[in-house]
Amino acid sequence: MKMQKPVWMLMVALVAAFALAACGGGGGGASTTIEIASDGENLAYDKKEFTVPTGQTITLTFKNVSTAQQHNIVIVKGGEDVAAKVDEEAINAGPPDFLPADRTNIIAATKMLGPGGSETITFTAPAPGTYVFLCTYPAHYAGGMKGVMTVAP
Ligand code: CU
Repeated sequence: MKMQKPVWMLMVALVAAFALAACGGGGGGASTTIEIASDGENLAYDKKEFTVPTGQTITLTFKNVSTAQQHNIVIVKGGEDVAAKVDEEAINAGPPDFLPADRTNIIAATKMLGPGGSETITFTAPAPGTYVFLCTYPAHYAGGMKGVMTVAP
């Protein structure tokens, strides 16, 4: 009888493993990878837009390919009005990160990256809609360093 308990526990573990595997195809745990970079020495990204599916885990890698400029990528919870607000908050927050401590309006953000730097961040894609992303280094958003993330249903 003493051997029965470990066998019973193994059966439970196997059933749990099969249940998890069955759920894997239904979207739970699915993920999407996005790669984006600065556009040379321009105040711009190499992508003006990208699309991700709602609810998925997004792994985003941002590379600052500039040899002189500092850049980041900050995805905000809304359009240009929210981006402008976050840009202002970032300037008030100051160096080195130019990022407000209050993340209420921010979905995800990298650190401020020096020339040649890169960072990978993960976040969950929000509700379907469009969300502006920008660089919060002073004057870069005003200079056009922005784009749109579309979240598909
Ligand atoms: Cu920038």
